[in-house]
Amino acid sequence: MVLRASRFVVTSLGMTTVTISTRGAKRIRQGHLWTYRSDVRDTRAATAGEIVSVVEEAGNFVGQAFFSDSSEITLRFLSNRNEAIDRDWWRSRLRACAERRTTIAQAANAYRLIYSEGDLLPSIIVDVYNGHYVIQTLSQGSDRIKDQLIELLIEEFQPRSVMERNDARVRGLEGLELRNKVVHGEAPDKIEVEQHGVRFIVSPLGGQKTGAFLDQRENYLAAQQVAFGRALDCFTFNGGFALHLAGRCEEILALDIAIEAIATGEENARLNGATNVAFKTANVFDALREMESARERFDTIVLDPPAFTKSRTTIKSGARGYKEINLRALKLLNPGGVLITCTCSYHMSEEMFLGIIAESALDARRRLQLVEKRGQSSDHPVLLGVPETHYLKCVIARVMD
Ligand SMILES: C[S@@+](CC[C@H](N)C(=O)[O-])C[C@H]1O[C@@H](n2cnc3c(N)ncnc32)[C@H](O)[C@@H]1O
Repeated sequence: MVLRASRFVVTSLGMTTVTISTRGAKRIRQGHLWTYRSDVRDTRAATAGEIVSVVEEAGNFVGQAFFSDSSEITLRFLSNRNEAIDRDWWRSRLRACAERRTTIAQAANAYRLIYSEGDLLPSIIVDVYNGHYVIQTLSQGSDRIKDQLIELLIEEFQPRSVMERNDARVRGLEGLELRNKVVHGEAPDKIEVEQHGVRFIVSPLGGQKTGAFLDQRENYLAAQQVAFGRALDCFTFNGGFALHLAGRCEEILALDIAIEAIATGEENARLNGATNVAFKTANVFDALREMESARERFDTIVLDPPAFTKSRTTIKSGARGYKEINLRALKLLNPGGVLITCTCSYHMSEEMFLGIIAESALDARRRLQLVEKRGQSSDHPVLLGVPETHYLKCVIARVMD
């Protein structure tokens, strides 16, 4: 996407102007939404979290952005137009996000309403759990307008409650305090949601992420399409994949290292009457090794680990982790069996991930058919031009022999 530039006009809004380098402006015009500190030339009197007008060195207008006085990402662009970013502007953005999710909301009452950069609303995340809304404001800018966003959520969607889940580590880089609390209405500790007919208990203020891995919702369905026989769901959390497979597979073993995650998984199995799912607390690395020694076999294996590489510097060790679990899983699969394997690390590109899977297949002496290459659910849209918005890769492959 190429953003159009217009000649800089001094706004009547009395906004602070920030100047960036020609290189920084080019990046924005090529579709990215961030300007790093190294491309910022003059911040004048910009204050933490202010929405500023941005121009390049030659004076041309570039857009309007959240300003941060602390993060390496100094500017997060909201608009490439010289327009008023007022209450009506925010309201129309919220409405547009909801409209884009109309079909999703018909099949699931738990989904992401706002996916930050992917929805052109950088550093703002809003998840919905059966009428309860959870907001994350991950930069000084979005934190500064948080109250207005909450008011608009209430006006537009009449939520049963609004919770602030602001304990993400990135807030530290913005100099923001970490806090989790209910800011509107009454929020129970546990909320029951439904995704494509499967019921789950979520705890938005206590669980991992904002309570669920909503980004896998559509991959659960894709896994359901190919799964059969005896299944193994590694890194199950609360049983997301396992419970979607329950109707398709004879039996499912679901593993996670977190005791609380397994306890909720068991509660979810009861809620769905899924008597063929067994949950077990285990370290997947150990469990796969033990099952290999015991010559266990499965027809379907899901691997959905946490991000093994959270920065460019740890790609090599991360790759070793992905290689190990994929290699071991492939050894445990019967001929004709399917592997559903994921990485949620932005730094692990699809190409690298496919390379690791291919290498694992070679080492395991299995021939693999690529069934499908997938990404995150469509309520986490990827913005072309901002590669960071594409983090989840899900590969479905079949063992041919
Ligand atoms: C990306 S989440 C899985 C999400 C889950 N598949 C879902 O769809 O909801 C990763 C999970 O791996 C678990 N985990 C992390 N390290 C582990 C390990 N070594 N063995 C087993 N589970 C682990 C975490 O507790 C977390 O629940």
